[in-house]
Amino acid sequence: MDKTNTLLFSLFALLLTTSSSKDLCHKDDKNALLKIKKAMNDPYAMISWDSKDDCCTWVAVECGDATLNHRVTTLVIQNDGVSAQIPPEVGDLPYLQTIIFHKLPNLTGEIPPTIVKLRYLRYLWLSWNSLTGPVPEFLSQLKNLEYINLSFNNLSGSIPGSLSLLPKLGYLELSRNKLTGKIPESFGSFKGVVPDLFLSHNQLSGSIPKSLGNLDFNRIDLSRNKLEGDASMMFGAKKTAWSIDLSRNKFQFDISKVIVATTVNNLVLNHNGLTGSIPVQWTQLSLQTFNVSYNRLCGRIPQGGDLQRFDAYAYLHNKCLCGAPLRSCNKII
Ligand SMILES: *[C@@H]1O[C@H](CO)[C@@H](O)[C@H](O)[C@H]1NC(C)=O
Ligand SMILES: *[C@@H]1O[C@H](CO)[C@@H](O)[C@H](O)[C@H]1NC(C)=O
Ligand SMILES: *[C@@H]1O[C@H](CO)[C@@H](O)[C@H](O)[C@H]1NC(C)=O
Ligand SMILES: *[C@@H]1O[C@H](CO)[C@@H](O)[C@H](O)[C@H]1NC(C)=O
Repeated sequence: MDKTNTLLFSLFALLLTTSSSKDLCHKDDKNALLKIKKAMNDPYAMISWDSKDDCCTWVAVECGDATLNHRVTTLVIQNDGVSAQIPPEVGDLPYLQTIIFHKLPNLTGEIPPTIVKLRYLRYLWLSWNSLTGPVPEFLSQLKNLEYINLSFNNLSGSIPGSLSLLPKLGYLELSRNKLTGKIPESFGSFKGVVPDLFLSHNQLSGSIPKSLGNLDFNRIDLSRNKLEGDASMMFGAKKTAWSIDLSRNKFQFDISKVIVATTVNNLVLNHNGLTGSIPVQWTQLSLQTFNVSYNRLCGRIPQGGDLQRFDAYAYLHNKCLCGAPLRSCNKII
């Protein structure tokens, strides 16, 4: 090394040791975290957050490695009685990739717009709280989102169609809220992969977009809504779905010609207005869960495959289904 280099090197080493001799935590991150703690009224979940310590060692916080300059990447607050809202300062942790606020029954208010600043965010899990307001439209700007789970809250309004623009979204879970309106037309063409879609226990209404039939969902749960009309496009020999739950809606279509892909393990269709008879093709399925009760089906239950593995409760309350596990068809047909 020549003299200048040596000098530069020792200067650099000096800077390094004085700024991070103890703390890996970036001071901006520590400031933001302390503001979050204060805004949430010092919850038990943050009791160990002492400003004298390295925030990268705090419970509920994780920092990235040296390549990320030890910036805070993860914030996990759960199982706490904290009575607060999500502090807007969460948006001041610019390297966050994971936010989990889970099982905080007294966490109220809306999802703060400052979250839109978190451009590295991949994983947003805000489940089992008392959040209100809409599913924010601005989430569609967070192009790295892979996982959104806002289930078990009191969110209302309709589902923003722009979520289909998220190129990496693999899971969209909005179940157990108070969402209304239709399933967006745009959900027939996700920009990236086709996500697993969980929208159950809401008040969604109307017909589902025809275009949803173009997609190959692995898992889709639309149960316990007020959806109506035809859903036969969700099926087909070429699909590779594993689980389809359309139960407890107002769907009305004839299932007689519906081919269910042999990849389907869970087929839950009870409490709708389905008509027709159960296709013989369904004897080819390997089913873990199956339910067609409380519909308007008729005719002989095809014998074979897994269809007789389920008891009568899987078939009850239809118009005129017969054959095992229900009573024989002799007198009816
Ligand atoms: C939430 O707040 C209510 C009313 O203040 C209180 O009774 C309840 O115990 C709180 N929940 C938890 C889990 O602390
Ligand atoms: C959320 O909804 C539940 C059930 O409808 C209700 O008991 C609770 O008070 C609501 N909470 C808020 C914060 O609106
Ligand atoms: C979303 O969160 C709920 C509640 O914690 C959980 O039961 C569910 O499995 C999660 N969904 C996904 C897709 O991970
Ligand atoms: C089918 O659904 C009905 C109605 O909810 C329920 O009583 C029955 O236990 C279910 N059967 C099976 C096999 O899941």
